[in-house]
Amino acid sequence: VATRTPLMAGNWKMNFDHLQSIAFVQKLAWTLKDADHDYAKVEVAVFPPFTDLRSVQTVVDADKLDVVYGGQDLSQHDSGAYTGDISGAFLSKLGCSYALVGHSERRTIHGEDDATCNAKVQAALRHGLTPVLCVGETLEQREATENPAEVSIAQLIAGLEGVADDAELVIAYEPVWAIGTGRVATAEQAQEVCHALRGALAERFGEERAAQIRILYGGSVKPDNVASIMREPDIDGALVGGASLVIDDFAAIVRYRE
Ligand code: G3P
Repeated sequence: VATRTPLMAGNWKMNFDHLQSIAFVQKLAWTLKDADHDYAKVEVAVFPPFTDLRSVQTVVDADKLDVVYGGQDLSQHDSGAYTGDISGAFLSKLGCSYALVGHSERRTIHGEDDATCNAKVQAALRHGLTPVLCVGETLEQREATENPAEVSIAQLIAGLEGVADDAELVIAYEPVWAIGTGRVATAEQAQEVCHALRGALAERFGEERAAQIRILYGGSVKPDNVASIMREPDIDGALVGGASLVIDDFAAIVRYRE
């Protein structure tokens, strides 16, 4: 049986300037140190705005912190005339481990389709970043089908087209109706889709590889619901929005086993 190290990831979205990000990462690390947190048992990642990444890198390096970090997005291109875009090469140079791809806010607000997400997954991999491919259905889509996993599976398959069998990947299931709404999917609802996603990964990459890939749940994860979500066998961590901006809440989420 594959053991998957749980990953607790804070997606800050467009919150915290670079000074706030330094203070936050330091305080988070102190809080987790006081609690004797073992990062080998639960990995901790933050996804700051691009303009904070250099500051986060500096504090992580200077204080030798075990917190890892990534970009909230990346360009599908490596360099060139793409005003406003940030390349995966820049992210790796700043010590990023991860890049979010296809967050629902990118898909809806910025009109990113599956082909773009696929190109971004490939761009992340080209630059040694682990893509965190986000998938999930809207309420309308959930209500229009018998199979709540249908939309997520389609996004997964399209997003991973052409990706090598041994590529480092993380998948995040974020039902759009549960993001920032306070309306969390029940643990059973989350497990049902995450289990189906693992099945689709098995078809794509084989059982053994599928058993190694972490699948996170995201959507109104809070200290008081994280433990029940993490009890589900196919859920390997959380992608946290609002609660990742509050030190004590995020630390409690990381320490969900206590
Ligand atoms: O990526 C995390 C996210 O979209 C969930 O946000 O605020 O519902 O935890 P929130």
